[in-house]
Amino acid sequence: MTGGDPAGVAHLYVHLPFCASRCGYCAFVVEVGREDARDAYLDAVLAELERERAVLGALDTVYLGGGTPTLMGAERLSRLLGAIAPMLAPGAEVTVEANPETMDDALAASLAAAGVSRVSLGAQSSRPHLLGILDRRAQPGDAERAVRAVRTAGIPRLSMDLMLAVPGQSAGDLAADLEWVVAQDPDHVSWYELEFKEGSAIARGPHSPPDDELAADLYEQAVEGLEDAGYRWYELANFARPGAECRHSLAYWRARDYLGIGVGAVSTLGGERRRNAPGLDRYIAALPGGEEPPRTREAVDADTRRRERWMLGTRLDEPLDVAWAGDPDNPEALVVLEDRGLIERRDGTVLLTRRGRLLQNAVMQQIMDFA
Ligand SMILES: C[S@@+](CC[C@H](N)C(=O)[O-])C[C@H]1O[C@@H](n2cnc3c(N)ncnc32)[C@H](O)[C@@H]1O
Ligand code: SF4
Repeated sequence: MTGGDPAGVAHLYVHLPFCASRCGYCAFVVEVGREDARDAYLDAVLAELERERAVLGALDTVYLGGGTPTLMGAERLSRLLGAIAPMLAPGAEVTVEANPETMDDALAASLAAAGVSRVSLGAQSSRPHLLGILDRRAQPGDAERAVRAVRTAGIPRLSMDLMLAVPGQSAGDLAADLEWVVAQDPDHVSWYELEFKEGSAIARGPHSPPDDELAADLYEQAVEGLEDAGYRWYELANFARPGAECRHSLAYWRARDYLGIGVGAVSTLGGERRRNAPGLDRYIAALPGGEEPPRTREAVDADTRRRERWMLGTRLDEPLDVAWAGDPDNPEALVVLEDRGLIERRDGTVLLTRRGRLLQNAVMQQIMDFA
C-alpha cells in the first residue's frame, strides 16, 4: 500500500451475501440456499477483519451490506458488530441493510443493542404489481411492519430504498410510492433508477425498460416530491432530512479510502483498488488458515482518480474543488455548459445546477472523455 490516510482508514464495508432468492434485476454477489455456510462465513469475515486491521484508524462509518445482512440472524450480527465495536470512533455511523420480510421486533432490538445507528430498508415500491416484476418477496405491509420495528427499537436513523423506471411504472404509480414513503417518515430515502444489468434475469425479458423520456419524468417527479416533503436532494439518487445524510456513502462520493471485507467486496486503499473474488467456498477456505482471500489488485492511476473524482463529486449538491479533483478533459465544455445553465463556476469550483443534476450523465460526457 502506498499513500493513504496516515490516521488510518475510517470507513469499513462488510459484505454479507446470503439471500433467500435472487431478485431478477440483481447482479450483486449473492448466495442463495447457502445458509448452512453462515457460521463459517462469519469466522472467515472476522479473520479477514483481523488480517486487515492494521490499515484501519478509528472508524467513522461501518456499513453491513448484501445480500441480505439480516438473513445472518441476530446472534451472528451481534458477534460481528461486537468485534467491530472497539474500532469505532465516538458517534460512528453503523448501518445495516435489511429486507423488510426479515425484520421483526426481536431483531431490531438486538441490532439496537449491538450499536446499530441506521437501518437501510429495501422496500423498492408500495405497488404490488411492480414488486411482482421485481421478484420481491416483501409486500408493502412487511415494509410498514419493519419500519415500526426499527422505530420501536429506538434505532436512530431509518433509510428506505425505492426503485424508479420499473417496467410498467406510471406517473400514478410513482405518486402513490411518494405518498407511501413520505407517510413512513424515513430520515433518508435512496431512490434508484432500475438498471437492466447484463446477465440479470430481467435483462433477458420479457419486460423492457421505460423509454428515456418517461424515466427522466419519473426521476424529476421523485426529486420534486421528496423535496416538497422536506428532504434534501444531496446526491443524485439520495435524499435526507437535514443532518441525516449517509456518511458512509458520502465517503465513497468524496473518494475517501475505504476497506471492504467479505466475498466480492471492493476496497480503495492508498491508490490501490482491491476486489475480493466472488465464490463463497474459496473465501471460506482461505481465511481461517490466515491466507489472503482470492482477490485482484490494481493501481488507481492519477487519470482514473481524476475521472472518478469528477464523476462521483458532481453527484453531490456540494461544489467540486477543481484543484483537488484535477483538470477536466474538456475545459472549453465548462464555458458552454455554464452558458446553458447546467453548471455554475465559482472560486475554482464547479457545481451542477438543478437542471444539470437531472442530466448529470450527459453533462459529464461533455466535460470528460470517458472510454
Ligand atoms: C444490493 S441491495 C441489498 C439490500 C437488500 N438485499 C435489498 O434487496 O433491499 C441494495 C439496493 O440496491 C438497489 N439495487 C440492486 N440492484 C439494482 C439494480 N439493478 N438497479 C437499481 N438498483 C438496484 C436496490 O434498491 C437495493 O435496495
Ligand atoms: S436485491 Fe437484495 S434481496 Fe434481491 S437478490 Fe439482490 S441483494 Fe438479494
